[in-house]
Amino acid sequence: MKKTLPYLALGFLAIASSSIADHHEEAAEPDATPAKAETADPNAINFATQVYPILEAKCVKCHEQPYEKKPRKEGAKGRTKKPKSKYRMDGKKFLLAGGTITAKVIAGTEEGISALTPGDASKSSMYTYTNLPEEDELHMPTKGDDLTPEEKEILKNWINQGANFGEWIGNEDESIRPYDPDAPAKS
Ligand code: HEC
Repeated sequence: MKKTLPYLALGFLAIASSSIADHHEEAAEPDATPAKAETADPNAINFATQVYPILEAKCVKCHEQPYEKKPRKEGAKGRTKKPKSKYRMDGKKFLLAGGTITAKVIAGTEEGISALTPGDASKSSMYTYTNLPEEDELHMPTKGDDLTPEEKEILKNWINQGANFGEWIGNEDESIRPYDPDAPAKS
């Protein structure tokens, strides 16, 4: 009988130390959260800080909210400048909706791919068009600097990761932006 006592004592120690360990883990909880987020996807691309600046610099001037151009005569109405292919890239809903080509592809009247297919860059023309040969009329951008290899990689990875916009919504205004004489001149 006497022999069991030390074992009982050991058992008690084991329980006591494991509850100390539990307690210790709980105390470490606040630090554990960011570490978890990192392990989820350390390469997750942020749309607002990594993708949109590229689009804004190289795509949006031809793919934005329709706007009224400077009127020829004072008091007259300026002509409306529409987004190319009716594709706007200045807001989430427009980026997802696509333009004229996307509409035809969806309707089945034209072969091709949609502007943006979350999860599949190879089925997203907003990415694949940037890789077309320069002489192709669908090469994007049609004018101005091409995307660099690094920029293409960011765009491709963002789409393949599911095209997560995070909190970003962008411009939702569907009206024609009136001419603003104080705005910097458009090319
Ligand atoms: C200088 C003007 C211009 C710039 C800058 C430009 N585009 Fe375009 N984009 C066009 C024109 C013109 C078309 C229509 C082409 C056609 O139908 O032949 C078009 C069409 C598109 C379409 C087809 C959308 C649809 O569903 O109809 C996509 C996608 C596209 N552009 C992506 C881009 C991307 C991405 C960039 C930036 C890397 C960009 N564009 C920059 C002029 C431009």
